[in-house]
Amino acid sequence: MKLLGKTSNADRAKKHLFPAQAQYYDKPLTIVAGDGCQVKDDEGNEYLDAFAGIATNTLGYGNTEVAQAVGEQAKKLMHVSTLYLTDEQLDFAEKVADISPERMTKSFVTNSGSEANEMAAVVARGWKKSADFLALEHAYHGRTLYTVAMAGQSNWRNIGPDMPHVAFVPNPYCYRCPLNLEYPSCEIACAKSAKRVIETATNGAPAAMIAETIAGVGGIITPPPEYFQVLQETLKPFGTLLIADEVQTGWGRLGDGMFGMVSTYNTIPDIITSAKGLGSGLPIGIVITRPELADVFKGPHINTFGGNPLSTTAGSVTLEVIEKQQLIANAKRQGKMLLEGLRDLQTRFPLIGEVRGHGLMIGIELVKDRKTKAYAPDETNRVLQGMKDRGVLIGKGGRFGNILRIQPPLIFSDHDSVEFLRVLSETLSSL
Ligand SMILES: Cc1ncc(COP(=O)(O)O)c(C=O)c1O
Repeated sequence: MKLLGKTSNADRAKKHLFPAQAQYYDKPLTIVAGDGCQVKDDEGNEYLDAFAGIATNTLGYGNTEVAQAVGEQAKKLMHVSTLYLTDEQLDFAEKVADISPERMTKSFVTNSGSEANEMAAVVARGWKKSADFLALEHAYHGRTLYTVAMAGQSNWRNIGPDMPHVAFVPNPYCYRCPLNLEYPSCEIACAKSAKRVIETATNGAPAAMIAETIAGVGGIITPPPEYFQVLQETLKPFGTLLIADEVQTGWGRLGDGMFGMVSTYNTIPDIITSAKGLGSGLPIGIVITRPELADVFKGPHINTFGGNPLSTTAGSVTLEVIEKQQLIANAKRQGKMLLEGLRDLQTRFPLIGEVRGHGLMIGIELVKDRKTKAYAPDETNRVLQGMKDRGVLIGKGGRFGNILRIQPPLIFSDHDSVEFLRVLSETLSSL
């Protein structure tokens, strides 16, 4: 509880935290505890969390299996560095190999998604002996130098000049097609345009193209079903690798299998990177690939905390619980319920320009006018705030901040989905 006269947390943050660390809401929310899909703030208010710490708390809050395993591990061994082996990391690497596409048997564990993408870039550069990369417009891959260079949104390219060379391919953003075409008559021209980008904006042999399976920060941009197959075919003649950034879409979120690009889009990339939901909240990231690619980079290389016993224990238990509790099937079920409910709301509220997504990765694009599709960032902020005031947390994204993001824990229940839709409907009615 907050004591009367105590300095507010917003003021404490202003004094001691970097301002770059921006928070949501008129008055930043201080979360003190969580249980299942509910969190509690420092004033005792409870919220249904439909954003899961940016699509990360796969098992919700307070999962006892993860907490117990991590607690026991903390007493036994917390850290040794990558200079030594641990059973925890090896058990985890074997589990990951078991659920990964055939031949993707080697992994490198990091502390974050940015680091994982950074390592994937190192591997691809070494393999192809090229320092050029392709990424998608509207992409987000992290906050390190390489990953900022891979950002396809100007607001996230905010760290100054001298970035590594990355050329951008038009995104499969069908609602606002960058090529002014329509699906399916477009025949996925956006993916095919990677050829033109390679021939005109790179050295002709880029090391890799990195792509989120569904762009999260960019606004849940959801490619058509055949998109990645067409993209992979386009890259093949150039020997350019495909890196699937599954930081948000991995570990069952799309409701079809562990990895969205593999299960939902029937495409096996050359490298998979992931993070977020894998550790149930403990910092972890991972690069998964075939031996011939992993073996290119001989090092030496150190990652002090990479693959540490705590994070890899959390990772192993998270994967076990996802399977045991059939959470991938639940992601599919809740995703279907939410998408149906949202499409119904779309018929009642003209502010909703498009509802899109797959499984528990859902976006609602808000527009001032359906004909002009004018971005509605102010209304988006009002919905975000209004939902919070009514006890539901959601996220937002998109280059122009006009897309609501619904990415709850995979344990979201029927009751949670119904409650979410009720509160959203009430909030939209109140605008
Ligand atoms: C698709 C994607 N890739 C990479 C990252 C970077 O992950 P991290 O914040 O763990 O460095 C994020 C973070 O939001 C992401 O959404």
